[in-house]
Amino acid sequence: MANTYKAMRTNKKELKMQRKKTNILHHNLNAEYPVLQRGEGVYVFDNKGKRYLDAVGGVGVVNIGHGVEEVMEAIEKQMRTLAFSYNGTVDNQPAEDMAAKLQQWAPAGMGETKTLFSSGGAEANEGAIKLAYQYHWERGLPSKKKIIGRWQSYHGNTIGTLSASGRTSWRSMYDPYMLDFMHISPPYCYRCPWGESYPGCKMECAYALKKTIKQAGPENISAFLAEPVIGTSMSAVVPPKEYYPIIREICDEFDVLFIVDEVMTGVGRTGKPWGIDNWQVTPDIITTSKGISGGYSPLGVLMLNEKICKTIEDGTGLVTHSCTYGGNPVSCAAGLATLEYIEKNDLVSRAGI
Ligand SMILES: Cc1ncc(COP(=O)(O)O)c(C=O)c1O
Repeated sequence: MANTYKAMRTNKKELKMQRKKTNILHHNLNAEYPVLQRGEGVYVFDNKGKRYLDAVGGVGVVNIGHGVEEVMEAIEKQMRTLAFSYNGTVDNQPAEDMAAKLQQWAPAGMGETKTLFSSGGAEANEGAIKLAYQYHWERGLPSKKKIIGRWQSYHGNTIGTLSASGRTSWRSMYDPYMLDFMHISPPYCYRCPWGESYPGCKMECAYALKKTIKQAGPENISAFLAEPVIGTSMSAVVPPKEYYPIIREICDEFDVLFIVDEVMTGVGRTGKPWGIDNWQVTPDIITTSKGISGGYSPLGVLMLNEKICKTIEDGTGLVTHSCTYGGNPVSCAAGLATLEYIEKNDLVSRAGI
């Protein structure tokens, strides 16, 4: 790691002299960032009038384009009616409507879902990690606390989510804080970690989960967390068709919850409502963010299946994971208008191949 940071310091002085002054703590302090001024459809424009094709949709966020009237109107209307209410003590109608809309979007096998809103993906995944553990705890299984994630994965930049992530370049600086979570190798056929070739292989990538659960002891494992299609750490890696059905079977065998991180792949981005739908597998928990509100207002979503909700309801009946801005009426209005826009314009099937 020392070498990486040494390399990043190269030419630092020279670059510093050329850079304009800024008080923003950038990801790369030695780079100069263009300043964006406005967006329109698939384009963004900087403050010098230069036009860019926003081919990455911000960062997998602006799924319905910039400047969609319906969404802006819904936000404005909501801001003028009620800009904020705190989800710990009261409800608001957009949050109720958004949770009901998400129930319509949820895979049928999840049953009657409940949604906890947050401001982004990491907060949603952090909640998923905590509530997966709570589910086991409520059933008298307090040792089931470890999360298994995958190398070359990304679930967020908080301590819990980074610990579950397998993005070494972002973990290494903060290594002293990483939690004792486990990771298996990714289902990456192009450079198979086992040196095999699909379809002649034995799907070792999926069975690695079974091995890891057995080695750690199923009594210690809470959940397996995965992005259905691998996102920012190994872009657009699609596991073989057998992968998630095997993963689901293994999770069921060892009483391990299956959490899908749909922050990148959710709400139609893969041509199905959820990325995991491409494998016809039902998860226990879905998290999402980014495109759920199209970039118009920050929104994170943590959706629990009926089994988990009922267990908590019949147990302590308490969920203490929360965020102040989670479920605020403006973000929920943005999310609702975005989902309605996606439905109205049939964007899910139009995004498919
Ligand atoms: C798959 C996935 N999960 C979680 C996150 C974290 O989301 P946020 O940056 O909103 O906390 C990201 C962000 O890139 C992501 O791609």
